[in-house]
Amino acid sequence: MKKTFLVVALAVALTFALATTAFATSPKTWNSLEDYYSWGSASTVSGALLSSLGANPTNPGVHANYQATTAKCGICHSVHRAAATGVKLLKASTASCTGCHKAGATTVTNLLVGWQGPVVSGLGRPHGAGQDANCTARACHINNPHGVGTSTYAIFRAKLIFNGVDAVVGPASANPASGFTTAQLNGAAMGAFEKDAVVAGYTCNQIGCHDATMLTVLNRNYAEQRDQMYPHGGPTVAKTGHLSVAGAREASASYSPVAGCVSCHDQRDSMTTSGFTFPHAQVATPGSTTNMGTAGTTRAFLWMGYAANNATALTALTDHDMKAYDGTCLKCHRNTVSGIGISK
Ligand code: HEC
Ligand code: HEC
Ligand code: HEC
Ligand code: HEC
Repeated sequence: MKKTFLVVALAVALTFALATTAFATSPKTWNSLEDYYSWGSASTVSGALLSSLGANPTNPGVHANYQATTAKCGICHSVHRAAATGVKLLKASTASCTGCHKAGATTVTNLLVGWQGPVVSGLGRPHGAGQDANCTARACHINNPHGVGTSTYAIFRAKLIFNGVDAVVGPASANPASGFTTAQLNGAAMGAFEKDAVVAGYTCNQIGCHDATMLTVLNRNYAEQRDQMYPHGGPTVAKTGHLSVAGAREASASYSPVAGCVSCHDQRDSMTTSGFTFPHAQVATPGSTTNMGTAGTTRAFLWMGYAANNATALTALTDHDMKAYDGTCLKCHRNTVSGIGISK
């Protein structure tokens, strides 16, 4: 009884918290104030968000993991209110990824807003995903709106990630030292930062991509057998990397926490739903505010900034060589009075 009350109270609180964004983004019929419903809209009856209905929480994402009691088809298709200009009962007139994900007034969702947009010469790296076709040409997202051909793991399927990821993340989840489990890959509760680090890290770590790096490290010194050099196929060695999630600890000269990949790859843009541009919105969106560079023109290399200490404003990396700057470490490992090179 008490638990039910708590859940309802939480749902109501969430409804108020999310109402502004939900109304601002896309049309929906979920309640009488909206034309058509979306992932973020709330029922006027129960207050529940559509994204939290039924089996949605353990089968995340709108594009995959369809079950009898998930609520997803209606986010994209309408049986009675489909746009005459749309295709296959969709609101969008184009069924391509960017038909729905493009930034602009007619967009279905502003998630991943930076997929389209100009590739700025010399700044298009590392992926140059600024062009429509590139989203699905990088072995990252698969080109099927319903998730066919994606990973067998629910949290990757939710993001339409290519099944090539399974060969690296599967063995890792079976190893207790990794700090995450196969059940968590399939939707069991997991910290949000840990989840982001696992999904982003292993997507990049697919064979044929960043196979010489160890990106997701939830337990200190966790190591995997990885290529010593690119390309794939040569000798392998055990490799580890910086913790992906860690609290700041003065004793070890860290003054800011690591909360997933975006603590270091820290370019932000107010126009993306997550706030962070990593790993999508490479060119800051016009009309946005950013934490480095000029909105609408500058894109940070590796989506990263550097600074002399954790109290100084970030400067964007603008070319390859700058990734070696000590400021990419000092932005956490020094404050104004102490830290590496001062007191350690
Ligand atoms: C994320 C948006 C999205 C969701 C959610 C979604 N669909 Fe689709 N659906 C599409 C798109 C886009 C197409 C068109 C694909 C194409 O033309 O290649 C499509 C096509 C279809 C088609 C036509 C298939 C064909 O080969 O012509 C059917 C039937 C369909 N969807 C049913 C469903 C059902 C049932 C659900 C829920 C279980 C669902 N869809 C969920 C986006 C979605
Ligand atoms: C018919 C519209 C539609 C099409 C076409 C479409 N999407 Fe989506 N997509 C959505 C909606 C709606 C959401 C949920 C967004 C939200 O929360 O506002 C979404 C969410 C996503 C997410 C984030 C999932 C999450 O849980 O964070 C990814 C990744 C994604 N889409 C990739 C793709 C790719 C790749 C394609 C092309 C194969 C594609 N989408 C085509 C409507 C569409
Ligand atoms: C402690 C800070 C830090 C964290 C946390 C971090 N990165 Fe990085 N990352 C860097 C720096 C600095 C570089 C550039 C230096 C280098 O390449 O070693 C880099 C480079 C990369 C590269 C290019 C590497 C190569 O060798 O090709 C990728 C891909 C990457 N990061 C992805 C990620 C992902 C995914 C996560 C989260 C799982 C993550 N990073 C977390 C700091 C970090
Ligand atoms: C976003 C903040 C942040 C950035 C940026 C960052 N670190 Fe860290 N670093 C931490 C935190 C937090 C810890 C863990 C503190 C602890 O638990 O002991 C840590 C720990 C370490 C450790 C100790 C590792 C261990 O296993 O004991 C080393 C070495 C280190 N960082 C080096 C670097 C280097 C080199 C860079 C730059 C490439 C860097 N860090 C960038 C926050 C950061």
